[in-house]
Amino acid sequence: MKTLRVGLEDRGYNIHIGHDLLGQLGQLLPRKYSTACLLITDENVDKLYGKEVEKSLTNHGFHVAKAVVAAGETSKSLETAARLYDCAFDHKMDRKSPIIALGGGVVGDLAGFIAATYMRGVPFIQIPTSLLAQVDSSVGGKVAVNHPRGKNIIGAFYQPQLVLIDLSVLKTLPPRELRAGMAEVIKYGIIWDKDLFSFLERNLAQLLSLEAQIIEEVVYRCCDIKAVVVEQDEKEANVRAVLNFGHTVGHAVEALGNYELKKHGEAVAVGMAVAGKISVAKGLFDELQLERMKRLLTRVPLDVSLPPEWEKDKGIELMLQDKKASQGKINFILPEEIGKVRIEEISASELHNLL
Ligand SMILES: NC(=O)c1ccc[n+]([C@@H]2O[C@H](COP(=O)([O-])OP(=O)(O)OC[C@H]3O[C@@H](n4cnc5c(N)ncnc54)[C@H](O)[C@@H]3O)[C@@H](O)[C@H]2O)c1
Repeated sequence: MKTLRVGLEDRGYNIHIGHDLLGQLGQLLPRKYSTACLLITDENVDKLYGKEVEKSLTNHGFHVAKAVVAAGETSKSLETAARLYDCAFDHKMDRKSPIIALGGGVVGDLAGFIAATYMRGVPFIQIPTSLLAQVDSSVGGKVAVNHPRGKNIIGAFYQPQLVLIDLSVLKTLPPRELRAGMAEVIKYGIIWDKDLFSFLERNLAQLLSLEAQIIEEVVYRCCDIKAVVVEQDEKEANVRAVLNFGHTVGHAVEALGNYELKKHGEAVAVGMAVAGKISVAKGLFDELQLERMKRLLTRVPLDVSLPPEWEKDKGIELMLQDKKASQGKINFILPEEIGKVRIEEISASELHNLL
């Protein structure tokens, strides 16, 4: 097991990364909590890993209430949240009772939102089970539910007190989810670490077949980058925005497909390719590097072209509504070389021409 620390003073926490760790949850919990705890998971993950996690908690003296939500984005809603508050009340959770998220990014964001708001905040533990959640959403403290008018509109910054990453659970992850998560992995190489990018080029097949050492190395490096970025800028005032590379167009692509046609990671892959193209058009990025970036994504395989449902005007309108846009300008993260990006404001009219 390897351990990373997210150094955020009194909100700092460890990320444990390794194989077969679920059964060790009870002993790895960082503090003395109240014995009543709430385990939140989804129906798929519950069937596979719910019992093991519950057993580890029970063996360490916890009195566990388990809430199982439907799998998928629709569970990230205020309706589901209301049901979970009821569970917490019924279970007599107090301010020292931990909420434990066992699942992908949906469960992590939802459970984190409950933890941030129930009694103005209770301890929160992340056990991410999808690749996307392991390398991205479980670290950094962004928690949210969706609003009918927009994704992640109701949320908070609320750090977990422990992130437990058991890589063994990835073997049951549907292949499409694994590939979608790969988009976020590749993103780290492009925005921050050219050596990671080269490592991915050399080891992609081993990574996709979940070779133990390779997956451990890659997840560790991704979490390390995320931790460094979050330490520098916890609430996204500046540098943390680089993590949104590919997300500006990506979010619009997801929305135009009603969050059904493209998975988050798949949309981000398209968004990264488009951002790369814009960067080339603005003379900031080299065509050969763009090709190299697209080649790695395509090898996963991830589609890098805009999907049939894409409509430029609607896409730009969605980008202007994004949380990160202001006063008719859209913040784009543009690559300058592999391993380095910059933040550029682009107006809607310029974007019209560029796209
Ligand atoms: N908070 C953040 O910083 C952040 C960052 C990126 C994405 N997100 C959010 O994350 C969500 C997407 O997360 P996701 O891609 O993990 O989706 P998800 O949580 O829906 O999980 C994908 C699917 O895989 C299943 N699954 C998960 N782990 C499994 C396992 N080990 N074995 C078998 N099946 C498993 C789930 O049941 C689900 O059906 C979105 O809501 C997005 O907004 C948040």
